[in-house]
Amino acid sequence: MRILKIPAALIVLISLVQSCKKDDCPQDCDLSLYNPTPYSINRPQGFPEMVIPADNPMTVEGVALGRKLFYEKRLSGDNTMSCATCHVQQPFSFTDNATRFSTGIDGIEGNRNAMAIINLGWARNFFWDGRAATLELQALGPVPNPIEMHQRWVDAIAKLEADTTYPELFLKAFGICEIDSIHVAMAIAQFERTMISGNSKFDKFLRGEVALTPSEQNGFSLFNRDKSDFLSGADCFHCHGSAGGAFTDNDFHNNGLDSVFTDLGRELTTGDINDRGKFRSPTLRNIELTAPYMHDGRFATLEEVIEHYNSGGHPSPTLDPLMKNVGVGLELTEQEKTDLINFLKTLTDMDFVNNPDFSEPQ
Ligand code: HEC
Ligand code: HEC
Repeated sequence: MRILKIPAALIVLISLVQSCKKDDCPQDCDLSLYNPTPYSINRPQGFPEMVIPADNPMTVEGVALGRKLFYEKRLSGDNTMSCATCHVQQPFSFTDNATRFSTGIDGIEGNRNAMAIINLGWARNFFWDGRAATLELQALGPVPNPIEMHQRWVDAIAKLEADTTYPELFLKAFGICEIDSIHVAMAIAQFERTMISGNSKFDKFLRGEVALTPSEQNGFSLFNRDKSDFLSGADCFHCHGSAGGAFTDNDFHNNGLDSVFTDLGRELTTGDINDRGKFRSPTLRNIELTAPYMHDGRFATLEEVIEHYNSGGHPSPTLDPLMKNVGVGLELTEQEKTDLINFLKTLTDMDFVNNPDFSEPQ
Protein backbone atom coordinates (compact mmCIF):
# COMPACT_ATOMS: atom_id res chain seq x y z
CA MET A 1 0.00 0.00 0.00
CA ARG A 2 2.88 2.29 0.81
CA ILE A 3 4.04 2.08 -2.80
CA LEU A 4 0.64 3.33 -3.92
CA LYS A 5 0.31 6.07 -1.35
CA ILE A 6 3.36 8.10 -2.11
CA PRO A 7 2.80 8.52 -5.86
CA ALA A 8 -0.88 9.34 -5.28
CA ALA A 9 0.03 12.07 -2.80
CA LEU A 10 2.64 13.37 -5.19
CA ILE A 11 0.18 13.51 -8.06
CA VAL A 12 -2.17 15.59 -5.95
CA LEU A 13 0.67 17.90 -5.04
CA ILE A 14 1.94 18.26 -8.59
CA SER A 15 -1.51 18.98 -9.97
CA LEU A 16 -2.00 21.61 -7.29
CA VAL A 17 1.26 23.33 -7.95
CA GLN A 18 0.23 23.44 -11.59
CA SER A 19 -3.35 24.58 -11.05
CA CYS A 20 -2.67 27.15 -8.34
CA LYS A 21 -0.19 29.69 -9.69
CA LYS A 22 1.18 32.13 -7.20
CA ASP A 23 -1.10 35.01 -8.16
CA ASP A 24 -4.46 33.26 -8.07
CA CYS A 25 -3.86 31.31 -4.85
CA PRO A 26 -5.89 32.63 -1.92
CA GLN A 27 -3.62 34.77 0.25
CA ASP A 28 -3.95 32.66 3.37
CA CYS A 29 -3.47 29.35 1.59
CA ASP A 30 0.07 28.27 2.35
CA LEU A 31 0.69 25.05 0.42
CA SER A 32 3.84 24.36 2.42
CA LEU A 33 1.46 23.34 5.26
CA TYR A 34 0.52 20.28 3.20
CA ASN A 35 2.75 17.51 4.52
CA PRO A 36 0.41 14.66 5.43
CA THR A 37 1.42 11.67 7.55
CA PRO A 38 0.50 8.28 6.06
CA TYR A 39 -2.01 6.38 8.22
CA SER A 40 -1.53 2.64 8.62
CA ILE A 41 -4.60 0.53 9.09
CA ASN A 42 -4.52 -1.62 12.21
CA ARG A 43 -5.59 -4.85 10.57
CA PRO A 44 -6.88 -7.53 12.98
CA GLN A 45 -5.37 -10.99 12.78
CA GLY A 46 -6.99 -13.08 10.05
CA PHE A 47 -8.49 -10.12 8.18
CA PRO A 48 -7.46 -9.69 4.52
CA GLU A 49 -5.60 -6.62 3.32
CA MET A 50 -7.91 -3.61 2.97
CA VAL A 51 -8.01 -2.28 -0.58
CA ILE A 52 -7.76 1.49 -0.32
CA PRO A 53 -8.59 3.55 -3.41
CA ALA A 54 -5.36 4.82 -4.95
CA ASP A 55 -6.85 8.30 -5.29
CA ASN A 56 -7.76 8.56 -1.60
CA PRO A 57 -4.76 7.34 0.41
CA MET A 58 -5.24 7.27 4.18
CA THR A 59 -3.52 10.01 6.13
CA VAL A 60 -3.62 10.94 9.81
CA GLU A 61 -4.87 14.39 8.81
CA GLY A 62 -7.56 12.99 6.50
CA VAL A 63 -8.88 10.56 9.11
CA ALA A 64 -9.03 13.29 11.80
CA LEU A 65 -10.86 15.62 9.41
CA GLY A 66 -13.28 12.86 8.43
CA ARG A 67 -14.05 12.20 12.07
CA LYS A 68 -14.80 15.88 12.68
CA LEU A 69 -17.04 15.99 9.59
CA PHE A 70 -18.88 12.82 10.65
CA TYR A 71 -20.01 14.71 13.76
CA GLU A 72 -20.53 18.06 11.95
CA LYS A 73 -24.12 19.26 12.32
CA ARG A 74 -23.58 22.16 9.92
CA LEU A 75 -23.68 19.61 7.11
CA SER A 76 -27.47 19.66 7.57
CA GLY A 77 -29.82 22.42 6.45
CA ASP A 78 -30.80 23.57 9.94
CA ASN A 79 -27.51 22.67 11.68
CA THR A 80 -29.18 20.03 13.85
CA MET A 81 -28.15 16.76 12.26
CA SER A 82 -24.84 15.06 11.56
CA CYS A 83 -24.02 11.62 10.24
CA ALA A 84 -23.71 10.58 13.88
CA THR A 85 -27.32 11.53 14.60
CA CYS A 86 -28.42 8.39 12.75
CA HIS A 87 -25.20 6.42 13.24
CA VAL A 88 -24.77 6.43 17.02
CA GLN A 89 -21.64 4.82 18.43
CA GLN A 90 -22.71 4.04 22.02
CA PRO A 91 -24.35 1.63 22.50
CA PHE A 92 -25.85 1.15 19.02
CA SER A 93 -22.69 0.39 17.05
CA PHE A 94 -23.39 3.27 14.65
CA THR A 95 -27.07 2.54 14.01
CA ASP A 96 -30.00 4.83 14.75
CA ASN A 97 -31.06 4.72 18.41
CA ALA A 98 -32.81 1.35 18.03
CA THR A 99 -35.44 2.97 15.81
CA ARG A 100 -36.93 1.25 12.81
CA PHE A 101 -36.72 4.21 10.41
CA SER A 102 -34.63 7.34 10.69
CA THR A 103 -36.24 10.78 10.62
CA GLY A 104 -34.55 13.59 8.69
CA ILE A 105 -34.37 17.30 9.58
CA ASP A 106 -37.83 18.02 8.17
CA GLY A 107 -39.42 15.32 10.30
CA ILE A 108 -39.83 12.98 7.32
CA GLU A 109 -39.29 9.31 8.02
CA GLY A 110 -37.31 7.15 5.59
CA ASN A 111 -38.23 3.58 4.66
CA ARG A 112 -34.97 1.81 5.44
CA ASN A 113 -33.28 0.89 8.71
CA ALA A 114 -29.97 2.72 9.29
CA MET A 115 -27.02 0.41 8.68
CA ALA A 116 -24.17 -0.15 11.10
CA ILE A 117 -20.81 1.27 10.08
CA ILE A 118 -18.46 -1.62 10.82
CA ASN A 119 -15.50 -2.91 8.82
CA LEU A 120 -16.78 -1.15 5.70
CA GLY A 121 -13.23 -0.83 4.38
CA TRP A 122 -13.64 -4.46 3.31
CA ALA A 123 -17.14 -4.04 1.88
CA ARG A 124 -18.26 -3.11 -1.60
CA ASN A 125 -21.56 -1.73 -2.91
CA PHE A 126 -22.99 0.32 -0.10
CA PHE A 127 -26.59 0.77 1.13
CA TRP A 128 -29.10 -2.07 1.39
CA ASP A 129 -29.48 -2.11 -2.38
CA GLY A 130 -25.81 -1.48 -3.15
CA ARG A 131 -26.49 1.73 -5.08
CA ALA A 132 -23.17 3.37 -4.06
CA ALA A 133 -20.03 1.66 -5.34
CA THR A 134 -17.59 3.27 -2.90
CA LEU A 135 -17.61 4.81 0.56
CA GLU A 136 -16.69 8.11 -1.08
CA LEU A 137 -19.81 8.01 -3.29
CA GLN A 138 -21.93 6.88 -0.33
CA ALA A 139 -20.85 9.87 1.76
CA LEU A 140 -22.01 12.31 -0.93
CA GLY A 141 -25.61 11.10 -0.50
CA PRO A 142 -26.98 12.03 2.93
CA VAL A 143 -26.28 15.80 2.84
CA PRO A 144 -28.51 16.69 -0.16
CA ASN A 145 -31.00 13.89 0.57
CA PRO A 146 -34.32 15.72 1.24
CA ILE A 147 -35.41 13.21 3.88
CA GLU A 148 -32.05 13.24 5.66
CA MET A 149 -29.77 16.27 6.09
CA HIS A 150 -31.49 18.25 3.30
CA GLN A 151 -28.90 20.83 2.37
CA ARG A 152 -27.41 21.67 -1.03
CA TRP A 153 -23.72 20.88 -1.10
CA VAL A 154 -22.88 24.49 -2.08
CA ASP A 155 -24.51 25.68 1.15
CA ALA A 156 -22.76 23.05 3.26
CA ILE A 157 -19.41 24.01 1.70
CA ALA A 158 -20.06 27.72 2.30
CA LYS A 159 -20.57 26.98 6.02
CA LEU A 160 -17.31 25.04 6.19
CA GLU A 161 -15.42 27.76 4.28
CA ALA A 162 -16.70 30.37 6.74
CA ASP A 163 -15.42 28.35 9.70
CA THR A 164 -12.16 29.32 11.38
CA THR A 165 -10.64 25.84 11.34
CA TYR A 166 -11.92 23.87 8.32
CA PRO A 167 -10.02 25.62 5.49
CA GLU A 168 -6.69 24.83 7.14
CA LEU A 169 -7.73 21.25 8.00
CA PHE A 170 -8.61 20.59 4.34
CA LEU A 171 -5.35 22.19 3.24
CA LYS A 172 -3.38 19.95 5.61
CA ALA A 173 -5.30 16.80 4.67
CA PHE A 174 -5.54 17.26 0.91
CA GLY A 175 -3.42 20.24 -0.14
CA ILE A 176 -6.46 22.11 -1.43
CA CYS A 177 -7.20 25.81 -1.01
CA GLU A 178 -10.93 25.54 -1.64
CA ILE A 179 -13.19 23.04 0.09
CA ASP A 180 -15.46 20.92 -2.10
CA SER A 181 -17.93 18.08 -1.57
CA ILE A 182 -15.59 15.50 -3.11
CA HIS A 183 -12.98 16.13 -0.41
CA VAL A 184 -15.59 16.16 2.35
CA ALA A 185 -16.64 12.69 1.16
CA MET A 186 -13.02 11.54 0.84
CA ALA A 187 -12.23 12.56 4.43
CA ILE A 188 -15.37 10.86 5.80
CA ALA A 189 -14.51 7.69 3.85
CA GLN A 190 -11.00 7.71 5.33
CA PHE A 191 -12.46 7.92 8.83
CA GLU A 192 -14.96 5.14 8.10
CA ARG A 193 -12.14 2.84 6.95
CA THR A 194 -10.63 3.12 10.44
CA MET A 195 -13.90 1.95 12.06
CA ILE A 196 -12.72 -1.61 12.51
CA SER A 197 -14.19 -4.22 14.83
CA GLY A 198 -11.95 -7.20 15.52
CA ASN A 199 -11.97 -7.69 19.26
CA SER A 200 -15.20 -9.49 20.05
CA LYS A 201 -15.30 -12.59 22.20
CA PHE A 202 -15.34 -14.60 18.99
CA ASP A 203 -12.14 -12.88 17.74
CA LYS A 204 -10.50 -13.58 21.10
CA PHE A 205 -11.62 -17.19 20.79
CA LEU A 206 -10.01 -17.44 17.33
CA ARG A 207 -6.79 -16.03 18.78
CA GLY A 208 -6.88 -18.66 21.51
CA GLU A 209 -7.38 -16.09 24.28
CA VAL A 210 -10.79 -17.25 25.57
CA ALA A 211 -12.99 -20.32 25.31
CA LEU A 212 -16.56 -20.39 24.05
CA THR A 213 -19.22 -21.89 26.31
CA PRO A 214 -20.67 -25.20 25.08
CA SER A 215 -23.83 -23.34 24.02
CA GLU A 216 -21.86 -20.73 22.01
CA GLN A 217 -19.74 -23.46 20.49
CA ASN A 218 -22.82 -25.40 19.41
CA GLY A 219 -24.33 -22.21 17.99
CA PHE A 220 -21.18 -21.70 15.91
CA SER A 221 -21.40 -25.28 14.61
CA LEU A 222 -25.07 -24.84 13.68
CA PHE A 223 -24.23 -21.54 11.98
CA ASN A 224 -21.65 -23.29 9.79
CA ARG A 225 -23.60 -26.41 8.99
CA ASP A 226 -26.13 -27.37 6.30
CA LYS A 227 -29.26 -29.05 7.54
CA SER A 228 -29.16 -32.72 6.59
CA ASP A 229 -31.15 -35.89 7.25
CA PHE A 230 -28.72 -36.81 9.99
CA LEU A 231 -27.78 -33.53 11.58
CA SER A 232 -29.52 -30.24 12.32
CA GLY A 233 -27.98 -27.13 10.79
CA ALA A 234 -28.88 -23.45 10.44
CA ASP A 235 -27.19 -22.77 7.07
CA CYS A 236 -26.18 -19.22 7.97
CA PHE A 237 -22.61 -19.38 6.70
CA HIS A 238 -23.50 -19.29 3.00
CA CYS A 239 -24.39 -15.62 3.20
CA HIS A 240 -22.82 -14.53 6.51
CA GLY A 241 -19.59 -16.56 6.38
CA SER A 242 -16.96 -15.87 9.02
CA ALA A 243 -14.02 -16.09 6.57
CA GLY A 244 -11.72 -13.09 6.88
CA GLY A 245 -13.75 -11.95 9.87
CA ALA A 246 -16.47 -10.58 7.58
CA PHE A 247 -19.74 -12.36 8.54
CA THR A 248 -21.09 -11.25 5.18
CA ASP A 249 -20.53 -12.38 1.62
CA ASN A 250 -21.02 -8.77 0.46
CA ASP A 251 -23.59 -10.03 -2.00
CA PHE A 252 -27.31 -9.55 -2.58
CA HIS A 253 -29.92 -12.15 -1.72
CA ASN A 254 -33.63 -12.56 -1.24
CA ASN A 255 -33.72 -14.26 2.13
CA GLY A 256 -37.44 -15.01 2.01
CA LEU A 257 -38.87 -12.06 3.94
CA ASP A 258 -41.80 -11.53 1.55
CA SER A 259 -43.66 -12.98 -1.40
CA VAL A 260 -44.75 -9.54 -2.65
CA PHE A 261 -42.30 -6.64 -2.39
CA THR A 262 -43.06 -3.06 -1.42
CA ASP A 263 -39.30 -2.29 -1.50
CA LEU A 264 -37.80 -3.74 -4.68
CA GLY A 265 -34.28 -3.70 -3.20
CA ARG A 266 -31.44 -4.40 -5.61
CA GLU A 267 -33.81 -4.11 -8.59
CA LEU A 268 -34.03 -0.37 -7.90
CA THR A 269 -30.31 -0.14 -8.67
CA THR A 270 -29.91 -2.62 -11.52
CA GLY A 271 -33.36 -2.40 -13.12
CA ASP A 272 -33.23 -6.19 -13.37
CA ILE A 273 -36.41 -8.00 -12.36
CA ASN A 274 -34.25 -10.95 -11.27
CA ASP A 275 -32.92 -8.70 -8.49
CA ARG A 276 -36.36 -8.04 -7.03
CA GLY A 277 -36.39 -8.20 -3.25
CA LYS A 278 -32.65 -8.79 -2.98
CA PHE A 279 -30.73 -6.89 -0.32
CA ARG A 280 -27.13 -6.86 0.80
CA SER A 281 -26.26 -9.43 3.47
CA PRO A 282 -25.16 -7.24 6.36
CA THR A 283 -22.31 -8.19 8.63
CA LEU A 284 -23.47 -9.88 11.83
CA ARG A 285 -20.78 -8.18 13.91
CA ASN A 286 -22.32 -6.33 16.87
CA ILE A 287 -25.71 -7.68 15.83
CA GLU A 288 -26.76 -7.77 19.49
CA LEU A 289 -26.55 -3.95 19.52
CA THR A 290 -28.14 -3.04 16.21
CA ALA A 291 -31.83 -3.94 16.55
CA PRO A 292 -34.27 -3.72 14.88
CA TYR A 293 -33.31 -6.02 12.03
CA MET A 294 -33.55 -6.29 8.22
CA HIS A 295 -33.70 -3.46 5.65
CA ASP A 296 -37.02 -2.30 7.06
CA GLY A 297 -36.32 -3.10 10.68
CA ARG A 298 -39.28 -5.48 10.78
CA PHE A 299 -37.86 -7.74 13.48
CA ALA A 300 -37.41 -6.26 16.92
CA THR A 301 -35.29 -9.06 18.39
CA LEU A 302 -32.78 -11.72 17.39
CA GLU A 303 -35.34 -14.28 18.51
CA GLU A 304 -37.68 -13.04 15.77
CA VAL A 305 -34.87 -13.21 13.21
CA ILE A 306 -34.07 -16.81 14.12
CA GLU A 307 -37.78 -17.63 14.01
CA HIS A 308 -37.89 -16.23 10.46
CA TYR A 309 -35.05 -18.45 9.27
CA ASN A 310 -36.35 -21.39 11.27
CA SER A 311 -39.76 -21.10 9.60
CA GLY A 312 -38.12 -21.22 6.19
CA GLY A 313 -39.45 -17.84 5.02
CA HIS A 314 -41.75 -16.92 2.14
CA PRO A 315 -41.46 -18.25 -1.40
CA SER A 316 -41.09 -15.89 -4.40
CA PRO A 317 -39.47 -16.10 -7.87
CA THR A 318 -36.20 -14.54 -6.70
CA LEU A 319 -35.92 -16.45 -3.43
CA ASP A 320 -32.30 -17.46 -2.93
CA PRO A 321 -31.55 -21.12 -3.68
CA LEU A 322 -29.50 -21.11 -0.47
CA MET A 323 -32.76 -20.69 1.43
CA LYS A 324 -33.33 -24.35 0.80
CA ASN A 325 -35.80 -25.06 3.56
CA VAL A 326 -38.76 -22.90 2.57
CA GLY A 327 -41.94 -24.70 3.46
CA VAL A 328 -40.15 -27.07 5.81
CA GLY A 329 -38.00 -24.78 7.90
CA LEU A 330 -34.80 -25.53 9.78
CA GLU A 331 -36.60 -27.49 12.50
CA LEU A 332 -34.26 -26.26 15.21
CA THR A 333 -34.99 -27.16 18.80
CA GLU A 334 -35.50 -24.43 21.40
CA GLN A 335 -32.03 -25.17 22.76
CA GLU A 336 -30.50 -24.88 19.29
CA LYS A 337 -32.17 -21.51 18.73
CA THR A 338 -30.76 -20.31 22.04
CA ASP A 339 -27.32 -21.65 21.10
CA LEU A 340 -27.41 -19.80 17.79
CA ILE A 341 -28.27 -16.54 19.55
CA ASN A 342 -25.62 -17.11 22.18
CA PHE A 343 -23.11 -17.54 19.38
CA LEU A 344 -24.29 -14.35 17.62
CA LYS A 345 -23.75 -12.47 20.88
CA THR A 346 -20.07 -13.50 20.88
CA LEU A 347 -19.73 -11.08 17.93
CA THR A 348 -20.33 -8.11 20.25
CA ASP A 349 -17.22 -5.92 20.44
CA MET A 350 -17.49 -3.36 23.24
CA ASP A 351 -13.96 -2.10 22.49
CA PHE A 352 -15.32 -0.94 19.13
CA VAL A 353 -18.42 0.64 20.65
CA ASN A 354 -16.35 2.43 23.30
CA ASN A 355 -13.33 3.23 21.13
CA PRO A 356 -12.47 6.88 21.87
CA ASP A 357 -10.97 7.25 18.36
CA PHE A 358 -14.47 7.00 16.88
CA SER A 359 -16.24 9.34 19.28
CA GLU A 360 -17.09 13.00 18.73
CA PRO A 361 -13.80 14.92 18.70
CA GLN A 362 -13.48 17.63 21.35
C1 HEC B 1 -31.42 10.61 8.73
C2 HEC B 1 -30.57 9.51 9.15
C3 HEC B 1 -29.22 9.36 8.47
C4 HEC B 1 -28.23 10.30 8.35
C5 HEC B 1 -28.25 11.75 8.79
C6 HEC B 1 -27.11 9.61 7.75
N1 HEC B 1 -27.42 8.30 7.52
FE1 HEC B 1 -26.19 6.87 6.79
N2 HEC B 1 -27.73 5.61 6.60
C7 HEC B 1 -29.02 5.85 7.02
C8 HEC B 1 -29.91 4.85 6.49
C9 HEC B 1 -31.40 4.77 6.73
C10 HEC B 1 -29.11 3.99 5.69
C11 HEC B 1 -29.60 2.84 4.82
C12 HEC B 1 -30.19 3.52 3.59
C13 HEC B 1 -30.47 2.65 2.40
O1 HEC B 1 -29.95 1.56 2.30
O2 HEC B 1 -31.21 3.11 1.51
C14 HEC B 1 -27.74 4.49 5.81
C15 HEC B 1 -26.64 3.89 5.22
C16 HEC B 1 -25.34 4.35 5.38
C17 HEC B 1 -24.15 3.65 4.93
C18 HEC B 1 -24.10 2.32 4.20
C19 HEC B 1 -23.55 1.22 5.07
C20 HEC B 1 -23.44 -0.07 4.34
O3 HEC B 1 -23.11 -1.07 4.98
O4 HEC B 1 -23.68 -0.11 3.12
C21 HEC B 1 -23.07 4.42 5.29
C22 HEC B 1 -21.61 4.12 5.05
C23 HEC B 1 -23.59 5.62 5.91
N3 HEC B 1 -24.97 5.52 5.97
C24 HEC B 1 -22.82 6.69 6.31
C25 HEC B 1 -23.37 7.95 6.56
C26 HEC B 1 -22.61 9.18 6.55
C27 HEC B 1 -21.13 9.29 6.26
C28 HEC B 1 -23.49 10.18 6.84
C29 HEC B 1 -23.20 11.67 6.92
C30 HEC B 1 -22.66 12.29 5.71
C31 HEC B 1 -24.78 9.56 7.06
N4 HEC B 1 -24.67 8.21 6.84
C32 HEC B 1 -25.93 10.25 7.44
C33 HEC B 1 -29.40 6.90 7.84
C34 HEC B 1 -28.70 8.11 7.93
C1 HEC C 1 -29.50 -16.68 1.35
C2 HEC C 1 -28.60 -15.86 2.13
C3 HEC C 1 -28.80 -15.78 3.62
C4 HEC C 1 -28.86 -16.82 4.54
C5 HEC C 1 -28.76 -18.29 4.25
C6 HEC C 1 -28.97 -16.21 5.83
N1 HEC C 1 -29.02 -14.85 5.72
FE1 HEC C 1 -29.24 -13.53 7.19
N2 HEC C 1 -29.46 -12.03 5.85
C7 HEC C 1 -29.35 -12.16 4.49
C8 HEC C 1 -29.76 -10.93 3.84
C9 HEC C 1 -29.76 -10.67 2.35
C10 HEC C 1 -30.16 -10.07 4.87
C11 HEC C 1 -30.76 -8.68 4.70
C12 HEC C 1 -32.17 -8.90 4.23
C13 HEC C 1 -33.05 -7.69 4.22
O1 HEC C 1 -32.87 -6.80 5.04
O2 HEC C 1 -33.96 -7.63 3.37
C14 HEC C 1 -29.95 -10.79 6.11
C15 HEC C 1 -30.18 -10.26 7.38
C16 HEC C 1 -29.89 -10.91 8.56
C17 HEC C 1 -29.96 -10.31 9.85
C18 HEC C 1 -30.34 -8.85 10.14
C19 HEC C 1 -29.12 -7.97 10.01
C20 HEC C 1 -29.37 -6.52 10.24
O3 HEC C 1 -28.39 -5.78 10.38
O4 HEC C 1 -30.53 -6.08 10.26
C21 HEC C 1 -29.56 -11.25 10.77
C22 HEC C 1 -29.45 -11.08 12.26
C23 HEC C 1 -29.29 -12.45 10.03
N3 HEC C 1 -29.50 -12.22 8.70
C24 HEC C 1 -28.87 -13.64 10.59
C25 HEC C 1 -28.84 -14.84 9.90
C26 HEC C 1 -28.75 -16.12 10.53
C27 HEC C 1 -28.60 -16.35 12.02
C28 HEC C 1 -28.81 -17.05 9.52
C29 HEC C 1 -28.88 -18.55 9.67
C30 HEC C 1 -30.00 -19.04 10.44
C31 HEC C 1 -28.94 -16.32 8.28
N4 HEC C 1 -28.97 -14.99 8.55
C32 HEC C 1 -29.02 -16.91 7.03
C33 HEC C 1 -28.94 -13.29 3.83
C34 HEC C 1 -28.94 -14.56 4.39
